[in-house]
Amino acid sequence: MPHRLVTTHRTSGATADSAQSFTLVNALKLDAKAELDALAKGLLAPAASLSPKYFYDALGSTLYNAIVLTDEYYPTRTEAAIFDTFRADIAAAIGVGKQFVDLGSGDSVKAEKWFASLKPSRYVGVDISESALTDALNRLAGIPDAPELVGLVTDFSRVVDLTAVVEKRPSVFFYPGSSIGNFSPDDAVWFLKQIRAHCHDSDCGLLIGVDAKKDKARLDAAYDDALGVTAAFNLNALRNVNRLLGSDFDVADWQHRGFYNEAMGRIEMHLEAKRAVQVRVRGELRAFAAGERIHTENSYKYSPEQFEAILIEAGFQRPQLWRDEKHDFNVFYANS
Ligand code: AVI
Repeated sequence: MPHRLVTTHRTSGATADSAQSFTLVNALKLDAKAELDALAKGLLAPAASLSPKYFYDALGSTLYNAIVLTDEYYPTRTEAAIFDTFRADIAAAIGVGKQFVDLGSGDSVKAEKWFASLKPSRYVGVDISESALTDALNRLAGIPDAPELVGLVTDFSRVVDLTAVVEKRPSVFFYPGSSIGNFSPDDAVWFLKQIRAHCHDSDCGLLIGVDAKKDKARLDAAYDDALGVTAAFNLNALRNVNRLLGSDFDVADWQHRGFYNEAMGRIEMHLEAKRAVQVRVRGELRAFAAGERIHTENSYKYSPEQFEAILIEAGFQRPQLWRDEKHDFNVFYANS
């Protein structure tokens, strides 16, 4: 059963005349049972897996914010430096006054840095977390000359339907952080085609950050940092699963594995059983042999040519590329 709830929020302290309000649409499926069935099925399968979306409970989101501060995890700070260095050039390619659609908006801080140069007429935040989105829109509502503000709570893993919130006008879709790497290359094309289908005007484009292929040792370290923050982030998924399914994973029985698979061009994260264990998942006993793994995440890395080909296959045109000096990270803007 799809659930759609539209609420209009007025920020606290605003008077009726000066009120900065925003509209929030919750389009998350209420079909929690199907979600949990899929989660249990993945864990009980012979090659066990779980979706990386189960990393992001409250503790997991906090651990992710800590990962980006580790010395080894370069993507976030490198992308921020590219944006800072080339902001004027990138803004000139995009143009001012557009609808700015922030895909996976989180705290909206990355998006807000574009407001001064892009002067968006409308800001659409899209995120899986209603609380993060509400907090972010409340904050943006308080800035001087805030654009019209809209939020959509949704989950990108199955459908990308933004029609409830995206207006037919010149737009820029913003997908930073190399989140596209968490899709397989085929699914990335599928996702980007669906984003492009929301472009109704020829004056529409995509600004996207994509992590680059590089030396295996650096990639291995970025996903297996010395402080063990990424290990805690990966292991925390088991706590979240226990809460959601009532299963009895003991975190102490498992260890983090995060490494670059050069043949596949992707980071793989797994949880590996330290010893033979039996776990009760929804009344069924799942035996894991010592060394057996649960696959928790892929993070694909792309050369500029490889990702350009993905943009073109998805229907985008004339991709422009900005990079850091070491070519660690790619930022593209492409027209629809
Ligand atoms: C959210 N995503 C782009 C991160 C990545 O690098 O694939 C998630 C992450 N997993 C481990 N570290 C960071």
